[in-house]
Amino acid sequence: EKGGYDHFMLKEIHEQPSAISDTYRGRMLADKGIIRMAGVDDNMERIANAKRIVIVACGTSWHAGLVAEYIFEDIARIPVEVEYASEFRYRNPIITENDVVIAISQSGETADTMAAIKLAKEKGAFAFGVCNVVGSSISRETHAGAYTHAGPEIGVASTKAFTTQITVLTLMALKLGKFKGTISHSDFQFHLQEMERIPDKVKKALKTDTLIQEIAYKYRYAPNCLYLGRGYNFPVALEGALKLKEISYIHAEGYPAAEMKHGPIALIDEQMPVVVIATKKGHYEKVVSNIQEIKSRKGKIIAVVTEGDQEVRELADYVIEVPETIESLTPLLTTIPLQLLSYHIAVMLGKNVDQPRNLAKSVTVE
Ligand code: F6R
Repeated sequence: EKGGYDHFMLKEIHEQPSAISDTYRGRMLADKGIIRMAGVDDNMERIANAKRIVIVACGTSWHAGLVAEYIFEDIARIPVEVEYASEFRYRNPIITENDVVIAISQSGETADTMAAIKLAKEKGAFAFGVCNVVGSSISRETHAGAYTHAGPEIGVASTKAFTTQITVLTLMALKLGKFKGTISHSDFQFHLQEMERIPDKVKKALKTDTLIQEIAYKYRYAPNCLYLGRGYNFPVALEGALKLKEISYIHAEGYPAAEMKHGPIALIDEQMPVVVIATKKGHYEKVVSNIQEIKSRKGKIIAVVTEGDQEVRELADYVIEVPETIESLTPLLTTIPLQLLSYHIAVMLGKNVDQPRNLAKSVTVE
């Protein structure tokens, strides 16, 4: 059932190339320049004319929401807010008929996300679901939606759900951007072509596994770990830290890289591993100067970089290369080594990777 892998989590990490292509297959016709998504097509005016999109979710799905915020605003030029479902539902939020509320949930059963979507509907918003489990409560409660088609995710730590959520939300943003004319035809085409290359690039990113095991072995006893990223890769830093916390029980924090100097830099000494996402484009030079600041305080630097990078290689203790792609799609690649890192550290520490203590696969109570 684990398909030859030691754990469901590892199997699911390795399924991502096919999970991502299953998510866009049948929806994206790159040669025709078309994206078909029934849940969006049938409600195009309502969604494209939204004054605002509010995304509600928890945990890893909330991180996918943060990536989507950047993509929607960039490509479809619709203002987006991303909220923890648990906070949204209890603070009398301002929601009107002009809003679209998107619930992101792998299980489709998360109690807080479900309650948030019910509240949004009561206030007249259009409710859209991005769920993995077909027929789940949230998918039934929403007016329309798009499934991620990732296949069953058994490991408690969410992996392929995250990357397929980003895939679906990217298609949705591209579709809206095309309809609204906020993305040029050539840019739209380029995004589709690059999306089709993502599964192969994820396969390449998975090949970092041997190097990651070496890094995991080196830092497995670290009591703390920092994760830094900017722009599209800021949510990836949060997600990397969450993965490490969940399954290895090592305390980890994710930050937007520039926030480091507003506090977290005080934590850096020779004991502190810092995982930095420093892919080309995406404020690269600024991240390089953050890396210099960490180095001058003797922090240990594990950098995720674009293939062929030289500048960071000279500064970092370890560099993990991922293939180049357009900036908005980099989270689909940079997430992979961070998933593997948390997996290998947890295994080396003898933790129960698929069923970490105190956690449940779907949180149906608040
Ligand atoms: C992280 C994780 C949790 C879930 C969260 C939301 O690895 O598994 O943080 O992401 O409980 O669950 P769903 O997406 O099912 O609503």
